Amino acid sequence: MSWALIPLTEEQRAIQRAARDFAREELEPGVADRDRDGRFDDSLVPKLAALGFLGMMLPERYDGLGLDTCTYLVALEEIAAVDASAAVLMSVHNSLPTQMILRYGSDAQRERFLPRMARGEVLGAFALSEPEAGSDAAALSTRAVRDGNDWILSGTKAWVTNGNLAGAILALARTDTPGDYKGARGIGTFIVTPDLPGFRVGRKEDKLGLRSSPTVQLHFDEMRVPASNVLGDPSHGFIYAMQSLEHGRLGIAAQAIGIARAALEVAVRYAAERRQFGKPIKEFQAIQFKLADMATKVTASRALLYAAAAARDRGEPITQFASMSKLMASDTAMAVTTEAIQVLGGYGYVTDYPVERYFRDAKITQIYEGTSEIQRIVIARELYAR
Ligand code: CAA
Repeated sequence: MSWALIPLTEEQRAIQRAARDFAREELEPGVADRDRDGRFDDSLVPKLAALGFLGMMLPERYDGLGLDTCTYLVALEEIAAVDASAAVLMSVHNSLPTQMILRYGSDAQRERFLPRMARGEVLGAFALSEPEAGSDAAALSTRAVRDGNDWILSGTKAWVTNGNLAGAILALARTDTPGDYKGARGIGTFIVTPDLPGFRVGRKEDKLGLRSSPTVQLHFDEMRVPASNVLGDPSHGFIYAMQSLEHGRLGIAAQAIGIARAALEVAVRYAAERRQFGKPIKEFQAIQFKLADMATKVTASRALLYAAAAARDRGEPITQFASMSKLMASDTAMAVTTEAIQVLGGYGYVTDYPVERYFRDAKITQIYEGTSEIQRIVIARELYAR
């Protein structure tokens, strides 16, 4: 797929090549087996860290690569095009916990966590959702009660990517009281480490896609968290999460585009090789129109994403553009993987070709980090906010 619409710098081309080579050499060989077995590859974190891919946007003083958002997304698409499960690990770690500590953390928190996170010694996770609070995130009920120099956290977090592997989980909990409910303004963000008394990993989900990326519940049973682990203002945690999710949504858009692009590439190759009625099926207009629509969707999604990411790199607000990017890219991933299966016919429906995996992996991009419906709410609200 041509990148002609988005001229890459020399540095971006080098990062793209490094990511592509890594994905082909290290991820591709076992990707189908890991998906089938629902198995996380323990060597993934040190391998990504060796490339600097776990501290892509962290400043060099914290052992990061100091890259901008656009360059990070170029690498992320390459990883997602081969292994979407590896891509979500990279996306969550780089977009949410590391960026939250960098933007809102104290100097001491940055020094304590960021270099180890960039080096892959500490993996990050983000714990906002709960069994009863998904799209309505501000309705979360995990409670944090101040007790001397500590906070006591009680509750259950759901759908936590890497929650069983993480050494730093950015978890949201209510700091208001039942008698003085403050909604979105009564929530704090806490840096939770798995050694805290009362921390417990709950059930691991058995998923349709992204099967080699672990997703778990986390239980906080009167877990004692030192006050030094509170991120910024203990009543602003929800705002920090919303602002950070804008960045996260760009990452998910890049992941979705990577999945879609991979499906398109398989379909293009297949249509050139597969012969029916005496000629390659790419010569039938029915197939050409599908491939044309697929390529247009991927290109348009990528163009929107890089326009949004460039705006972020210029320091401009991207609330609406981040939601538009994620909405469009995730719909593209679903549409393109569906059509790729159609182009391959029966071969697309079985595991001989990877498109059925792409299709399964694509679906979650319309759900996590805000469903497509929530993205539309954010986009529509912004229309009236001006
Ligand atoms: N930037 C800054 N502030 C923001 C903001 C943003 N992008 N979005 C909201 N806020 C502020 C609002 O200004 C408001 O502040 P005030 O109190 O000062 O007015 C406050 O946050 C509350 O905002 P809303 O009134 O808009 O809140 P709401 O309850 O109506 O909900 C929502 C807003 C957009 C629906 C939000 O709840 C949402 O995004 N829901 C989806 C949650 C989500 O994306 N979850 C993903 C979890 S992570 C994950 O998927 C797991 C993983 O590991 C990958």
